[in-house]
Amino acid sequence: MMHYKTKPEIELMRNSALLVSRTLTEMAKVLRPGITTLELDKLIGEFIRDNGAIPSFLNYRGYPFNSCTSVNDVVVHGFPNKTELRDGDIISIDIGVIKERYHGDHAYTFAIGDPGPDVWQLIRVTKESLYKGIEKAVAGNRVGDISFAIQEHTEKKHGYGVVRELVGHGLGTELHEDPQVPNYGRRGSLQKLKEGLVLAIEPMINLGKRDVYTESDGWTVRTVDHKYSVHFEHDVCVQKGHADILSDYSIIEAAEKANPHLFSGN
Ligand code: MF3
Ligand code: CO
Repeated sequence: MMHYKTKPEIELMRNSALLVSRTLTEMAKVLRPGITTLELDKLIGEFIRDNGAIPSFLNYRGYPFNSCTSVNDVVVHGFPNKTELRDGDIISIDIGVIKERYHGDHAYTFAIGDPGPDVWQLIRVTKESLYKGIEKAVAGNRVGDISFAIQEHTEKKHGYGVVRELVGHGLGTELHEDPQVPNYGRRGSLQKLKEGLVLAIEPMINLGKRDVYTESDGWTVRTVDHKYSVHFEHDVCVQKGHADILSDYSIIEAAEKANPHLFSGN
């Protein structure tokens, strides 16, 4: 069942999404070679609770951490651990909160030091594809229009692998609501988009082949060819004539640019 949010509900959801953006901004400030993902996860939990919210991933279907920290060939759902990040690593940090009953859920991929031109292009193109998908999240379009736009830009245009097993989703008082939002598909297919539908749109794009597998921990998803994978996620509300992006990359990007340990383009 699809849930269409009222104006006041959308503002609560914007608050939740922005708390995730602010948490990711804290990450953009502290990321550096030598820090561990477990240290990041601890800071994430503290920041969320200090802001009157709950980390929503913790205990979700038994997930044991505040955040997902997916490094290099890990696609999504990477467990925070005691391994130090190194120059040339990339890390997707995916964070969820519940505040005043509503979920925020979004993600950003950072590069520690210089990841090299091929990986940087993958990061740039994946982020671009997210915005191309968001452009289609307007009333009257269909879910497949979003899917098609993402696949066109990443797979058709750049030859990257689009992960099939994991998809974006509706968001609200539940972390995962209808509809599913695949990152591949046909224009004009799937459900019709109506005003007030909130979606977490999240391309997961591989430098090499699209194939992935889940590790024996039951969560960590990796590329089969062990090439790098990138993940960006925004929370978006469908409106008439435009998509309202509830989360905010501008504060994350400003902190990313100000951090000399992070690559943010030439
Ligand atoms: N952004 C991911 C998703 O929407 C986060 C889920 S991680 C989990 O599926 F730990 F909560 F499962
Ligand atoms: Co999500």
